[in-house]
Amino acid sequence: MMGKRILLIVGGGIAAYKSLDLVRRLRERGFSVRVVLTEAGSQFVTPLSLASLSGQEVHQELFSLTAEARMGHIELSRDADLVVIAPATADLLAKAAHGHANDLASTLLLATDKRVLAAPSMNLRMWLHPATQRNVATLRGDGMLFVGPGDGAMACGEYGPGRMAEPLEIVAAVEAALAGDTTIPLPFAKPGPLAGLRVIVTSGPTHEPIDPVRYIANRSSGKQGHAIAQAAAAAGASVVLVSGPVTVPDPAGVNTIHVETARQMLEAVEASLPADIFIGAAAVADWRVGAALAEKLKKGASGPPTLGLVENPDILATVASHAQRPRLVVGFAAETEKVIDHAQAKLARKKCDLIVANDVSPATGVMGGDANTVHLVSKSGVETWPTLPKAEVAQRLVAQLAARMGEGGA
Ligand code: PMT
Repeated sequence: MMGKRILLIVGGGIAAYKSLDLVRRLRERGFSVRVVLTEAGSQFVTPLSLASLSGQEVHQELFSLTAEARMGHIELSRDADLVVIAPATADLLAKAAHGHANDLASTLLLATDKRVLAAPSMNLRMWLHPATQRNVATLRGDGMLFVGPGDGAMACGEYGPGRMAEPLEIVAAVEAALAGDTTIPLPFAKPGPLAGLRVIVTSGPTHEPIDPVRYIANRSSGKQGHAIAQAAAAAGASVVLVSGPVTVPDPAGVNTIHVETARQMLEAVEASLPADIFIGAAAVADWRVGAALAEKLKKGASGPPTLGLVENPDILATVASHAQRPRLVVGFAAETEKVIDHAQAKLARKKCDLIVANDVSPATGVMGGDANTVHLVSKSGVETWPTLPKAEVAQRLVAQLAARMGEGGA
């Protein structure tokens, strides 16, 4: 679950104090936690405590110009693998059940494309009230997941159901939820040419640490890989996007896993198998520093340091020779000279079915830019496309892959 992102909505209930521990427990397990605190929630816990524990800015307002400039509320609602509401008050559940969007928390719950896990917390009469029970039934029908509430003594002096689940129970429910597909498909999504198929796409660069503050990287922006993931999802596939560090947003309707290094990318890809199609669009660093330093490298009398590089695992080649090899394995080739020759060599060496070759010489502006000129290299020959926006390259590629799958594979 390393690197999975949780958006935690803290509502206004006395159990909000347990949410502080929840943040700690989630972070101990390698989750990153971004917190949204409702106005009522801020009567029980402070944004400062939540910011200190989560290590991130706490979001509180729907109409905040500064926060909106950094991350819009739609992006905030999607830039997570799972949304958790703890404590989920009667009021928050009522708003969610009826589709209200009059504050940041309710707007995010309406705008998100990810599953929501709620940990209700309220007085037992409020919990047992038919209105709350109706709202919970509606929300369950909409796909919301619930953990708790449990029975017990309440802060208000009564005894019964309504006590928020303990932080570790919530963590277990988070892990269980993340083990499945957490993307909510759009209700009007049409079955496309890739319907029923599972596609894994890698995108962006990898960062290979030198020391705690420095890393080896490249200029890939993730635009091409993300566009492919988006196009595959639009074609009806269930898509896992394994992304290196990028600033482009997670595509809607795609399960995005965020990683930093080549080794983490390989681990996330292997954990996402089996799949029908693999597309390696990431610019994976070929080498990493063999022994990255735990402390910052200092300038010293002995002159410039020597970075001992070792080879990274080849993700594309690993997938192409995997026991669970997808039916179609597509690689990219980023070249600055002899583009087709090198791509043909990569096709054979990495045992893939298709290579999308592009010229990444600085003059082309392909890395980081919005357009690409690609050559599709396969055993049956080379097809060159005109310069196109990356979104169009993605759509054409997906159409071509769908046709190949329809023909029975590679
Ligand atoms: O991200 P953008 O700014 O939109 O730019 C898009 C792009 C230029 C990065 C993209 O179109 C592209 O060419 N991606 C592949 C970049 C690359 O690493 O190419 P390569 O020729 O070094 O590698 C060949 C193939 O092996 C690629 O599919 C790569 O993902 C894969 N590989 C490479 C090394 C490694 N250790 N593991 C791998 O899986």
